[in-house]
Amino acid sequence: MQIHSAQFEISAPDLDSCPESDLPEFAFIGRSNVGKSSLINTLTNKHNLAMVSAKPGKTRLINFFRINQKWDLVDLPGYGYAKASGQTRNKFNVMVSDYLVKRDNLSCVFVLIDCRHEAQKLDLEFTAWLIEYQIPFVLVFTKTDKVKPTIVQKHIDYFKKAMSEFCDGLPRIYTCSAKTGTGRKEILQFIDQAVVN
Ligand code: GTP
Ligand code: MG
Repeated sequence: MQIHSAQFEISAPDLDSCPESDLPEFAFIGRSNVGKSSLINTLTNKHNLAMVSAKPGKTRLINFFRINQKWDLVDLPGYGYAKASGQTRNKFNVMVSDYLVKRDNLSCVFVLIDCRHEAQKLDLEFTAWLIEYQIPFVLVFTKTDKVKPTIVQKHIDYFKKAMSEFCDGLPRIYTCSAKTGTGRKEILQFIDQAVVN
């Protein structure tokens, strides 16, 4: 799929402030610093569209980007940001879970996982939560430029094995690097098919 246009639309602090829309939406979530905003920039080929930072906890609101005037990408705050206070963390959790559970035009959630690490409890718990709430999702292993392909594959296999303990089928899995553009084409192809259907 070609990206003809990509524009920032709005940042929302909660579900009620999200724009009304019938267009399909694709949301990006994962631990703080996993590369959500970077992947949005890579997919759209606009390197300053979503705000990126080496410091975790950069994205704090629900950010909407309109693509090709046909669908939206949604950049969400990361979970598991250790430095956030309990109160702030709770506010984020309510904001994000409300959005994920109640947003009618949400087509699919991209759950980003850092390919450099073995399956982490928080990521597994989050995928189990999505399954419980029947929210459609795919997994994207990020930052593949940082380690050897064999390590990436080992960590994907661990994650699949851990997931098979609590779910029957496995979700679709992608790998990506915001640095080299690996995975961009495949992810856009998936979105393209989802938008058409
Ligand atoms: P929060 O908004 O804080 O939750 O973070 P995020 O998940 O949006 O991560 P962000 O895109 O801001 O990236 C965090 C850091 O990782 C930045 O320094 C990025 O440059 C770096 N980064 C993201 N993706 C990649 C990648 O694929 N490869 C490499 N080498 N670095 C990456
Ligand atoms: Mg971000």
